[in-house]
Amino acid sequence: MCGIIGYIGKKEVIPILLEGLKKLEYRGYDSAGIALVDQNKIIRRRVEGKISALETSLKKEELAGDYGIGHTRWATHGRPCEENAHPHQDCTGAFIVVHNGIIENYLAIKETLRGEGHNFETETDTEVIAHLIEKYYQDNLEKAVLRAIQDLEGAFAIAVISNHDLQKIVLAKMGPPVVVGLGEEEYFVSSDLNPLLSYTQNIVFLDDGDLAVITPSGAEFFDFSGNSLDKKIDRIAWNPLMIEKSGYKHFMLKEIFEQPQVIRDTFQGRISLDTGKIFLSEIGIDEKRLRDVRRVVLIACGTSFHSSLTGKYFIESLAGIPVDVEYASEYRYRDFILDKDSLVVTISQSGETADSLAAMRAVKEQSPMTLAVCNVAGSSIAREADGLLMTHAGPEIGVAATKTFTAQMAALVLLALYLAQIKGNMDAKTSLDLTQELQRIPHKIEKILHQADAIEKLALKFKYASHFLYLGRWANYPIALEGALKLKEISYIHAEGYPAGEMKHGPIALIDDKMPTMAIIPKDRVYDKTLSNISEIKARLGYVVVVADENDKDIRSKVDEVITIPSVYPLFSPFLTNVPLQLFAYYIATFRGADVDQPRNLAKSVTVE
Ligand code: G6P
Repeated sequence: MCGIIGYIGKKEVIPILLEGLKKLEYRGYDSAGIALVDQNKIIRRRVEGKISALETSLKKEELAGDYGIGHTRWATHGRPCEENAHPHQDCTGAFIVVHNGIIENYLAIKETLRGEGHNFETETDTEVIAHLIEKYYQDNLEKAVLRAIQDLEGAFAIAVISNHDLQKIVLAKMGPPVVVGLGEEEYFVSSDLNPLLSYTQNIVFLDDGDLAVITPSGAEFFDFSGNSLDKKIDRIAWNPLMIEKSGYKHFMLKEIFEQPQVIRDTFQGRISLDTGKIFLSEIGIDEKRLRDVRRVVLIACGTSFHSSLTGKYFIESLAGIPVDVEYASEYRYRDFILDKDSLVVTISQSGETADSLAAMRAVKEQSPMTLAVCNVAGSSIAREADGLLMTHAGPEIGVAATKTFTAQMAALVLLALYLAQIKGNMDAKTSLDLTQELQRIPHKIEKILHQADAIEKLALKFKYASHFLYLGRWANYPIALEGALKLKEISYIHAEGYPAGEMKHGPIALIDDKMPTMAIIPKDRVYDKTLSNISEIKARLGYVVVVADENDKDIRSKVDEVITIPSVYPLFSPFLTNVPLQLFAYYIATFRGADVDQPRNLAKSVTVE
């Protein structure tokens, strides 16, 4: 949801800003811009389109600067065009701002400022920030920023520069993420860690209500009242190689292929191979409190909502605790009822999704136990929850989530087994059998990945499809939803995920020879039922592709196409069935020439409501 970048140091500024923006591009990519300070002159360049367009345009001139800021945009207020692209400036062109977030009262501010003689050039909410800073500036940039943000309602991470107060980048955060990277005589500002990994692993995560002043000699931190803060420096374990494509055509494909390792990394050190005991004391919630948990609520958005749905099956089946799964964007506005023995788990890859964060904060007001399942250490959700269960997927760059979905399922199955064990709901033999089965999952996924070429050939047949129905039942109902979401997101084919048993109550009316169906039918407790649902489709001339167990020889004569998965303990089948659906969506999207890693209209991390 927009990315911001900044650099102050001895290196050439433009390449660092551009490289940084490319790594943030997954956050938004409809327009981009940079602003530099060259001695005491401000240079601002903006373009409509992607960072590559900005790069091409910058190559046409010989530009340099001492320090600067940049932005890649995902439009909220004001259509994507050069005029609305960041950085924005005040009337005089002396105060320059990049912003991630939404200023909710910008129209009222704009009206007041207009009345005071300010002229506006854009349709954006951000522009008012630059004019407010202009209005309040006396002799010091951070003081003007501190005063300006008092007038703002909404969410913001901003970076500000000015040629009135040189050699300074001022940051402020209320809502969207922003981090400061501390290098050797150089300092970086970024919406997330990715652009910083090549330069430094020493990071300061700003909290809401923090202001930072970055100069060539260091970074200082303050609260919004101007009191100095002593911020913790985190050392980040991710390395720059993790955000390269490593020979794959797209990040998404690389990330699909990383899934076996992601599961191994997420299980690593958390399962005893000898006894099947799960070690999760690291999450930081007292075991005694967890033992008393009587209800679990999982809240999330998007793909994380789908992994949460699989978590419901894991926790209910293994730990015997009732589970509700809720969309964060709905839950935050509900009159929800929680008891002190409810455990509320927020599942979020980025740890910054605005709705998930707001829902978690609302839950905390009723003070049950909150746990975060996150992939980004130091993110807002990770820091604010009572407990934290990290997924070890490494950075995910493809906008459509793949490996983090799998890592979330891995974390949730561990949580389910852990709750079962500490509650005494599972005997030692079952624990050992199930954890051994889990350890075999990565290898089974590798076998599916070996079929990528066959899935690619199959995908070609559906290059021109306009619609797709995805059906699954029981533990694979969430996978039907996720499979359909992947296809929609990256290929722009309309796809609907449905519980197979519900098909007869509506979607069956859609079935004809132009509506293909992808049905997930592993050997599980609902196998026969799903098979009947498939027969109902075949009877109406529907074309049916299935994901089925490799030992299911009978299925071939009953459907049109079969993708196989190795046999697996049925409850864990979502780990396998999901993978061919990811590959299927990926290949269809590439055949259609879609921008797989950066699908239109989407952003990886939605930090606005
Ligand atoms: C965006 C992304 C999705 C993601 C969702 C939730 O919509 O495009 O891929 O699933 O946000 O993100 P989170 O970081 O909270 O898991």
